[in-house]
Amino acid sequence: MAKIALAIHGGAGTILKSQMTTALEAEYRGGLETALKIGWEILERGGSSLDAVEATVCSLEDFPLFNAGRGSVFTHEGKQEMDACIMDGHNLKAGAVAFVKNIRNPVSLARLVMERTEHVLLAGDGANQFAEQIGVATEPDEYFFTEHRWLQLQEAMADGRVQLDHAEVAKSHSRIRVGLGTVACDTNGHLAAATSTGGMTNKKFGRVGDTPLVGLGNYADETCAVSCTGHGEYFMLGVTAYDVAARMKYKGLSLEDAARETIAHLTKINGEGGLIAVDPNGNVTLPFNSDGMYRGSITAKSGGQPP
Ligand code: GLY
Repeated sequence: MAKIALAIHGGAGTILKSQMTTALEAEYRGGLETALKIGWEILERGGSSLDAVEATVCSLEDFPLFNAGRGSVFTHEGKQEMDACIMDGHNLKAGAVAFVKNIRNPVSLARLVMERTEHVLLAGDGANQFAEQIGVATEPDEYFFTEHRWLQLQEAMADGRVQLDHAEVAKSHSRIRVGLGTVACDTNGHLAAATSTGGMTNKKFGRVGDTPLVGLGNYADETCAVSCTGHGEYFMLGVTAYDVAARMKYKGLSLEDAARETIAHLTKINGEGGLIAVDPNGNVTLPFNSDGMYRGSITAKSGGQPP
């Protein structure tokens, strides 16, 4: 039986010390721990890595402090346009959605794209039509409204920039916080990855990042499962998620060495962020080049406890 493992991230970057309170820190920590527990319980009772990553990401999407689902950042027009991807490394299948609106759990819609269509990626109105047709849960705009995201938009618009929650922002909580994701290895050694995001504050023109693009922000095969977080454009240019798998396959590197090289390459091309990755032996790695990365993992080696 393979060693089960689960890792999650809640976005790269740090919350400014001046904005952080003990209560806020406890909220972030609580959100990550709750999500980890949900995924771990599925793996422990022999569930699939695919079920574990979907359920873990759903929990994070429902949690308003993370930039995905309910806590998604606002576009220039004051809307939330969300991207998500899920990939099953065992059978090399993936589903993804881009700039969908009012979907409660974009990751579940992505899974339905994988399981109920002959496509990999559905975008915009078409993806929303598909959601309506199959009865996926939607929520009104008010459900997705959070005060701190709205402030971030006002600040970004006042400064005329598209932002990744930068440090110089006065009232918003954080520096780069772009999305969330999970990777898992189940008892069969099957791997899966899921990633979800609201993208960048003040984004325009249907901007889509790396998250819903297979191999860029999210990837899983028999070698590893990878979920990325950070400035999406650079993860697109670095083909970052697949880069970890390629280094393992073609260079024979371990998961940790491959992921380290991938982040070094990201740094070289001026990208900022991080990734989480797992291999079929239950090894986990969580490297980043940003100030920090909200992250957590549970493995058989950690005795089934968050480290
Ligand atoms: N990495 C997520 C994004 O840039 O949208």
